[in-house]
Amino acid sequence: MAALRPLIAGNWKMYGRRADLAEIDGLWKRVGAAARALDVLICPPAPYVAAAAEAAKGGEVQIGAQDCCAVAEDAARTGDVNAAMLADAGARYLIAGHSERRSLHGESDGLVRRKAEAAFAAGLIPIICVGETQAERNAGKVAEIVSRQVRESTPAEGGPFVIAYEPVWAIGGSTTPTMAEIAEVHALIRETLSGNFGARANETRILYGGSVNPKNAGEIFAVEGVDGALVGRASLKAADFAAIILAHPAAR
Ligand code: PGA
Repeated sequence: MAALRPLIAGNWKMYGRRADLAEIDGLWKRVGAAARALDVLICPPAPYVAAAAEAAKGGEVQIGAQDCCAVAEDAARTGDVNAAMLADAGARYLIAGHSERRSLHGESDGLVRRKAEAAFAAGLIPIICVGETQAERNAGKVAEIVSRQVRESTPAEGGPFVIAYEPVWAIGGSTTPTMAEIAEVHALIRETLSGNFGARANETRILYGGSVNPKNAGEIFAVEGVDGALVGRASLKAADFAAIILAHPAAR
């Protein structure tokens, strides 16, 4: 399979203020030309998507959103934001089914799939997140859980889309799986995609996420089947996120 264009995405979660959007320009100043062979993405909180897209204009950092309503059409849904609005505000990607939304908001595979469909309808590229909890790993259920999430959270048609493998127990901490474990799950995801989604599988980037930092990024990017990363904490500051991006072989 030909190498896919790497994607390194930052997920700011519920952190940051308008003043922090200066990090976007700071990031491009640090990585600039070196990052032209990769897609670099920042997903700020929803209120800042439009201003982030404006702040990104001087470079090639792309902007994404962290969630959307599963209803694609405009509707009487107080407090909800649809994918079309996020696209209109300047988003290009949409994170769907992050484990924090699955656990804190009870999002099911079916709901995540509908959000990914809403993203397609708005011309956004969904980054569909999957990953096992510590208890599921301890019980030897990684393959079962991850392949089910991939099958059931991915729309049967449409694209392009991205899968992010984020073991829940590795998010927000300091430990990651071993490189062999990451390779194993990425191979399983690729196999699940091939078996269920035909030719689309070969164009789908599979990211690793969970405690990626400037120190471990190079080792993770070297793992077979890893097409980039989804980064939380270490994406908030331009210096850290730039160090991660520059650790990718495509940035050299
Ligand atoms: P982390 O978060 O990099 O802070 O572990 C990753 C994520 O939740 O996407």
